[in-house]
Amino acid sequence: MNILVTGGAGYIGSHTVRALVNKKHRVVVLDNLSKGHPAAVKEIELVRGDTSDRQLLKRLLTGCNIEAVMHFAASSLVGESVRLPSDYYRNNVVNGLTLLDAAVEAGVRYFVFSSTAAVYGEPIEVPITENHPATPLNPYGATKLALEGAMRWYGEAYGLRYTSLRYFNAAGADPAGDIGEDHEPETHLIPLVMKAALGLIPQLEIFGDDYPTPDGTCVRDYIHVNDLADAHILALEAMAGGAGSNIYNLGNGNGYSVLEVIETAKAVTGSSIPVKYAARRAGDPAVLVAGSERIKDELGWRPAFPGLREIIETAWRWHSNHPGGYEK
Ligand code: UFG
Repeated sequence: MNILVTGGAGYIGSHTVRALVNKKHRVVVLDNLSKGHPAAVKEIELVRGDTSDRQLLKRLLTGCNIEAVMHFAASSLVGESVRLPSDYYRNNVVNGLTLLDAAVEAGVRYFVFSSTAAVYGEPIEVPITENHPATPLNPYGATKLALEGAMRWYGEAYGLRYTSLRYFNAAGADPAGDIGEDHEPETHLIPLVMKAALGLIPQLEIFGDDYPTPDGTCVRDYIHVNDLADAHILALEAMAGGAGSNIYNLGNGNGYSVLEVIETAKAVTGSSIPVKYAARRAGDPAVLVAGSERIKDELGWRPAFPGLREIIETAWRWHSNHPGGYEK
């Protein structure tokens, strides 16, 4: 299939691009390179541009005979979204609608969307299934939920078929070790733990030790980035085979605390990881664990890296080989 991947030079996008190319799809990446890295998509057709550019979208979608869009391009930091809701609504909702409109106009048939566990807000029960109420606590989650709503109604009115994938905590890197996570600034736990193990930051700050969890630190469901990538392909194949639109959670169903992540990283890296306890970070729910039975049952998704240790091993391979990230 001919597939446009927005945000394809970013962390999750680039891993999905690789999986698509391995499956012999033709991929065109659209990325404004605000976060993405050209080196993450070497030998792939990369167009530098923005999803706000309707003319560019039209040219790409029709000129490349695009049949499916995978939409990763978005702003995705919870804390930043609380400070800058205008930026998040513009980039995630307004630009998302521009892309949806262009896709409908160009006759694109399938749309796969990067959504997030942040749509659920503070869970009232775990594991969180897709039927859990969606009451986001921050603009990031709210903007992702808003585009999910738009996709639903676009589907009803214009026949666009979509799959929304609600990721829990994406982590790890391709085992080949040449692509991985490189954010500036980095705010995510596992890459920061890797940087602490490498001595690139003096210590890891643990945000809160008084949560109602077994060791007092937050519990998250870490999912390998290649397992996320595989789910995108399964979603596309299912729609191409006649399946309707759907929403799926993506996690492993296992929760690990911040301290468990640090202990596992110590074992993997053989390094000490200096830590400092700090205040809770605003907007962090105590526990986020996915119920991903729906995608397992309906699409046959099976994670290849379900364990925290193997996820951290692949992250370590990337970070220890690329301590300065892609460009340095
Ligand atoms: N943490 C620390 N110290 C750090 C960084 C993180 O203790 O330096 C803790 C956080 O408080 C949290 C856990 O590690 O408890 C994981 O934090 P991340 O920033 O790695 O991930 P989040 O759980 O905050 O975010 C993820 C996705 C978001 C999504 C969110 C849902 O990255 O896109 O889950 O709440 F919105």
